[in-house]
Amino acid sequence: MKKLLTLLLVFTMVLSLAACGSTQPAGGGDGEDLPKIGVTIYKFDDNFMSFVRRSIEKNADGKAELILNDSQNNQANQNDQVDMMISKGVKALAINLVDPQAAPTIISKAKKADIPIVFFNKEPSEGALDSYDKSWYVGTASKEAGIIQGKMIVDTWNANSKWDKNGDGKIQYVLLKGEPGHPDAEARTKYAVEEIKNSGIGVEELELQTGMWDSVKGKELMDAWLAKHGDAIEYVIANNDAMALGAINSLKTEGYYSGDKFMPVVGVDAIPDALTEIEKGVLVGSVLNDAANQGKASLDLALNVAEGKDVLDGTNWNLDDKKAVRVPYLAITKENIQVAKDSYK
Ligand code: GAL
Ligand code: CA
Repeated sequence: MKKLLTLLLVFTMVLSLAACGSTQPAGGGDGEDLPKIGVTIYKFDDNFMSFVRRSIEKNADGKAELILNDSQNNQANQNDQVDMMISKGVKALAINLVDPQAAPTIISKAKKADIPIVFFNKEPSEGALDSYDKSWYVGTASKEAGIIQGKMIVDTWNANSKWDKNGDGKIQYVLLKGEPGHPDAEARTKYAVEEIKNSGIGVEELELQTGMWDSVKGKELMDAWLAKHGDAIEYVIANNDAMALGAINSLKTEGYYSGDKFMPVVGVDAIPDALTEIEKGVLVGSVLNDAANQGKASLDLALNVAEGKDVLDGTNWNLDDKKAVRVPYLAITKENIQVAKDSYK
């Protein structure tokens, strides 16, 4: 019993340490002479972000001492973490916002302490970035993913006449949306559907709801939609792979992907679990959201400004007119799956 209690105590201590943000002296040394960079991830429990985090850590190795925080999907937590990191003397912040609207709050804290910020993955509004000359953004051009996904839907639809189950020439689709108000979720939703329409194919939206980027929520929504519409659904469009994989789980329970019962599903991110389903011919395709390069660019920029250098010093990144580095997306299907696999090496 006593042993169990001690174990419990140690476990709780480890947990609370993790919640406070762990200091990670990167590289072999004690990290004392390396510049401190304060990093927040909106929640560690996000599949895609775990790969961005991994890339930041890898690129910081031997170059920076990271203070890494899990904001646990709570903006108030994140605000406290930023205060804590500023008091610990970080030389730069790399912030993955919880709420994309919260940039001004973080900026006002950093501005007071004269600390530069590199936001990543959740794009702040233009006005927010303009309000602080020492702030930048690393991410993607959100609409690009929607356009690529839309094209993939058009190409695969045109190549598979059987997928038009009711033969009306239109795609009856359901759409799993990411976090509402998130620039990626809004743009992917809009441009994927617009791209289909632009190609001349008619669409009918049977369902559109947010699954908050989450696989469990994706499965729950798909369960409900299958119960309601069954085989009247002809295409499942997901703003990310986690939700696409959730939908696939649901579909498998209903007997899809065995025999000739098939339902086309497309996602975004090209995370390793999704690549496995693409190889099996289950997931139609995805759009590579290049976590490795987004993590690298975030760290490169943060390290430069932490050392008082020009933000792009010694890098190959470019800033657009919105002070943003935008890493390109890439369509991924079975044919070029190796490109996505290589990006995780
Ligand atoms: C998106 C990504 C999602 C999710 C989200 C978090 O770019 O596609 O899977 O990670 O960022 O902000
Ligand atoms: Ca149809």
